[in-house]
Amino acid sequence: MKQPLTIALTKGRILKETLPLFAEAGIEPLDDIASSRKLLFETSVPDVRLVVLRGSDVPTYVRHGAADIGVVGKDILMEFGAEGLYEPLDLGIARCRLMTAGFPNANESRPRLRVASKFVNVARAHYAARGVQAEIIKLYGAMELAPLMNLADQIVDIVDTGNTLRANGMVPLEHIADISSRLVVNKAAMRTRHNVISGVIEAVSRAVAQREASAA
Ligand code: PRP
Repeated sequence: MKQPLTIALTKGRILKETLPLFAEAGIEPLDDIASSRKLLFETSVPDVRLVVLRGSDVPTYVRHGAADIGVVGKDILMEFGAEGLYEPLDLGIARCRLMTAGFPNANESRPRLRVASKFVNVARAHYAARGVQAEIIKLYGAMELAPLMNLADQIVDIVDTGNTLRANGMVPLEHIADISSRLVVNKAAMRTRHNVISGVIEAVSRAVAQREASAA
């Protein structure tokens, strides 16, 4: 039997935007991913299968070769690094911004700003580059709660519509990066399975180009 090509997808909002794009590229899961408790899916393309993971696990699977290709947010690549990975394609989906945020007109009198984030490496680099002394506090979710509960003065988080910040009385402050989902490829697999991987990259990149052309 031929070894299947495995594509690791990021669950959640990214998955909802990935599936239509992959369908346009001719790659469709044979089961309904949304209603299934399975984590591994055969597709309409023989020998291509999908796994659905947390975003922060996608680079790990691809880096170790457990998956050949991945779909993951640029925020995750910035935070956890892209070592061992090629990043050949910006999918143009799940667009948002990585920003600092806090209460408007906050008067920071502390010598060290307290910043809550799940993107601790990005946050540390951002404040260091601005020469701001910051204590970075790692959280795993609900970042917006940290300033409300006086756990932190600011947060570093993803902002899409800005609704979550507004609903909690906060405002976006500094723009760190524009984010979208990227295709990543295991570097060794790119050499050893070049034909099949290039076929997937080309199909998906045609679908991305078609969307861009019809949006223009
Ligand atoms: C993200 C982010 C914000 C929210 C921003 O969380 O952490 O809470 O979306 O979106 P908005 O600007 O449109 O309000 P997500 O819902 O992805 O969940 P997570 O905290 O599990 O990452």
